[in-house]
Amino acid sequence: MAMSVEAMPVKTMSVTPLSPALGAAITGVDLRKALDDATVKAINDAFDRYIVVVFRDQELSEADQVRAAGYFGKVHIRRRPANGRTPGGEYDTPFMMVTNIVENGKPIGSFGDGEMWFHHDTSYYPQPHRATFLYAMKLTSSGGETCFANMYKAYENIPQPLRDRLEGRKVLQVHDYKRRERIDLGKVGVANIQHHEQPIIITHPATGKKALYISRLMSARIEGFSADESEAALEALFDISEDPAIVYEHEWRLGDLVVWDNWASIHARKDFPRDEPRLMRRCTIEGRALGF
Ligand code: OGA
Ligand code: MN
Repeated sequence: MAMSVEAMPVKTMSVTPLSPALGAAITGVDLRKALDDATVKAINDAFDRYIVVVFRDQELSEADQVRAAGYFGKVHIRRRPANGRTPGGEYDTPFMMVTNIVENGKPIGSFGDGEMWFHHDTSYYPQPHRATFLYAMKLTSSGGETCFANMYKAYENIPQPLRDRLEGRKVLQVHDYKRRERIDLGKVGVANIQHHEQPIIITHPATGKKALYISRLMSARIEGFSADESEAALEALFDISEDPAIVYEHEWRLGDLVVWDNWASIHARKDFPRDEPRLMRRCTIEGRALGF
């Protein structure tokens, strides 16, 4: 009996690496539809392996994005600030807009204009988020690329003598809403800003692999080192972590949903024209405490 073409499943998921550093494009998946368990498992396997996964040409409502994020873990709900509007509904929302758009003199989202240095999201929390999702809704005519560094490879690239000195140590991670400057703890009291000590080298809870856990924007001080020793070691680690050989640079297209493993990677944003709007809808997956 002849089978109609329509009856045959035509789309199957495929995973295509994006660079030698990390990253894979996942195609053949329409995130407007609920996915079966086998597909969800294949996506998570690709995520653990490639650290960053990119779904192109998606047309996602807020509900679609939340459902898609839910395949990766528990979606974090942001508490609605008492003083302002939060995109995503009248109540507490999973969303934050990453944008430079200002309406009636007020930014409608976070992270404003221009370059952002390499960082982990929420490394200054006791339980840093597992993953972050950015969905591209408005893009500038140039710039605004997001760069991702593979922190498993960064760990492997630490010279052995330095690695030995870092073993079992913690690093103070801080956040003061800066995008492109290090925080001077001599000037800003650590008690006045968000901060948490984390292992410098973590064991990734999902993959069991070791990853370097520092970033130029947020890592302030290595525990147990003198100020000079700490600065020298951190400078060396920043360079190792930003080595172009372990970085993938994502050039955005409208409709991209990019998901990053926020324990195994750091990310940075390149500059872009300030007079053009850029708008990304962001949500995250809850994390857990990170151990040595
Ligand atoms: C973020 C972030 C980078 C970008 O949302 O956490 O760092 O390219 N965004 O906007
Ligand atoms: Mn970020």
